[in-house]
Amino acid sequence: MNRQEKPLVIAIDGPAASGKSTVGKILAERLGFFYFDTGVMYRAATLAALNHLGSVDDELAVTRLAEKINIDVRPSSLEDGRVMDVLLDGRDVTWEIRTAEVEGNVSQVSAYAGVRKALTEQQRNIGRRGNMVMAGRDIGTVVFPDAAIKIYLDASPQERARRRLQEIQNRGQSASYEEILTAIVHRDEIDSSRVHAPLKAAADAFIINTDGKTVEQVVQECLQVIGSLSK
Ligand code: DC
Repeated sequence: MNRQEKPLVIAIDGPAASGKSTVGKILAERLGFFYFDTGVMYRAATLAALNHLGSVDDELAVTRLAEKINIDVRPSSLEDGRVMDVLLDGRDVTWEIRTAEVEGNVSQVSAYAGVRKALTEQQRNIGRRGNMVMAGRDIGTVVFPDAAIKIYLDASPQERARRRLQEIQNRGQSASYEEILTAIVHRDEIDSSRVHAPLKAAADAFIINTDGKTVEQVVQECLQVIGSLSK
C-alpha cells in the first residue's frame, strides 16, 4: 500500500473491552498512523463537569461546559504507559480521566445530545489531521460516516469480562468476575439504548467477532480488511 493511498481515517468501533484499544494501537503502529481513542473526549468532558459543577446531573450546564472546553490529543510526551497525551484546555489529564469517579459518570455524560454534538465536532477536527486509527462507538456511523475503512469489533460480555479481569490482575489488583460482568452488561445497555448515536455497527462496517481469538489473529484480520479495501 502506497503511503499516499492510505485512507485518512480507519474507524474502529465496538463495545467496552472488545479489544478496540489493543488492536487499534497495534494497527496504528504498523501503519504509521496516530492512534486516537475517542473515549477520552467523553472522559475529559466528564472530568471537567465533576471539577466545575460537582456532578454531571445538570444536562444543560454539562452541555454548555462541553461547548466551551477544548480537548486535544497529542503523541505521548512521557513513557508512563500512556498511548497519547490528553489535554483539557491545555492541561495534561491523561491519567485523571481514568479514575473510578470519571468511569462511573461517563456513560451519563456521553448520552447527552449537546455534549455529543460538541465533542463530535472536536473529533472531526482532530481526525482531519489524517492518518488516524480512530476507536470509539460511533466513528463509522456518526463522526466519519464516509471513512473508507470501518471495522466493528465485537465479543461476548463473558469474554470481555474475562479480559477486563485479566487487565486488572495484570496491574496487581484484584476484582470479582461477576461484578465486572454486571458492569459491562450495564454499560452495554446504556451505550446501545441511548437515543443519540447509540452503539451499533455501521451498515458498511466489517464486523469481526474476537471471541477466542488472539490479539495477533484479530490484527491480521483487520490488516486483511484494510488491504482489501484500500486497493
Ligand atoms: O472507551 P471508553 O471506555 O473510554 O469510553 C468512555 C465512554 O464514552 C463510554 O461510556 C462510551 C462513550 N463513548 C462514546 O459514546 N462515543 C465514543 N466515540 C467513544 C466513547
